[in-house]
Amino acid sequence: MEVKEISERIKRLQEEKDAIILAHYYTRPEVQDVAGYLGDSLGLSRMAARASARVIVFCGVHFMAETASIISPDKKVLIPARDAGCSLSESVTGADLAAWKAAHPGGIVVCYVNTSADVKSNADYCCTSSNATRVVESLPAGRPVLFVPDKNLGAYINKVTGRDMELWHGDCCVHERLPAPVLLERLDEYPGAIALVHPEANGSHDDRVLHHPRVVIASTAGMIDHARRSTCRQYIVATELETIHELAKSCPGKTFIPALRSTICGQMKKITIERVLDALEKEQFEVKVADEIREKARVPIQRMLDVK
Ligand code: 13P
Ligand code: SF4
Repeated sequence: MEVKEISERIKRLQEEKDAIILAHYYTRPEVQDVAGYLGDSLGLSRMAARASARVIVFCGVHFMAETASIISPDKKVLIPARDAGCSLSESVTGADLAAWKAAHPGGIVVCYVNTSADVKSNADYCCTSSNATRVVESLPAGRPVLFVPDKNLGAYINKVTGRDMELWHGDCCVHERLPAPVLLERLDEYPGAIALVHPEANGSHDDRVLHHPRVVIASTAGMIDHARRSTCRQYIVATELETIHELAKSCPGKTFIPALRSTICGQMKKITIERVLDALEKEQFEVKVADEIREKARVPIQRMLDVK
C-alpha cells in the first residue's frame, strides 16, 4: 500500500475508533503528517491530559506513552512499536534512584520526563526541556537537589539558574554527538545563521556556546517558536534531524542546516506509518502502569504540568 493510502485509512480509523494520534517531532515525516497533535515532550504530556478520545496512539518512545497512561489511566494508550526505547531513560532505574536518594538525605529529586514510571515514582518533581529551568527555580533555596538522568540538561540548568544540583551521569546518544567544537565550527561556517541548540546537546552548557550571541538554547517546541518569530532567514539545527520537517513547514522561505546529519534517533524511527495503521486496526500495543507505581509517579508529573 502507498503511504497516501495508508495515511487516509489512518485518518478514517481515527474517527471510527474515537482515537487521537499524538506524535513527537522526532518521528518520521509521514507519521508527523497524520498526527492529530504534533508536539514536544511537554506539549504531548499536556495533550494526553486534555484529550477526550477513547484511544491515544502515542507515536514516540516508551516513556512518553507510559507518561500518557499515568496521566490518563482511563484511556487506552497504544504505542505502535513496543520496543521503542530511549538511551537516556534506560540510564537509571527506580532502584538506582532510591539508592542515590538514600546517599543524599533531605535532597529534592527532579527527574527529566525521559525516565521510566518506576523512576518517576521515586521523584518529587518531573520536568521536560521546555520547563526544566522554571521547575528548578520554583524549588526552595538551600535544599540539595538531585537531578536525573541527563547530565547535559542538568549542567545547563545549573549554569542558568546558579544552582548546584547533583547530576546523574546519563545522556542521550543522539544529542551527545553535538559537543561545543561541532557547534562552534558550524557557527563559523554560517556567519549569518542562528544556531538552535537543544539543552540535551553535549555542548549546550559550554560557556562558548551558552554565551554566543547567535545561539538559542531551547526545547524542540521552543526552537520552532523562535524560528517562526525571528526575522533571521538561516538556522543551524542542533538536535534530532527530523525536527527540520516541522521547522521547514512552519517557516517557509527560511533555511535549516543540520549541525550534524547523523543526529537520528533510531528508536523514534521504529514508529513507521504501517505500524501506526496496525496499532489502530488491532488496538495494539497497550501501555499500562501498575496502580501502585502509577499513583506515586502521577505526583511529580502533575507538579510538572502545574508549572506554567
Ligand atoms: P523535547 O521534546 O522536550 O524537546 O525533548 C527532546 C527529546 O529528546 C525527547 O526524547
Ligand atoms: Fe531518547 Fe535521545 Fe531518542 Fe530523545 S532523542 S528519545 S532522549 S534517545
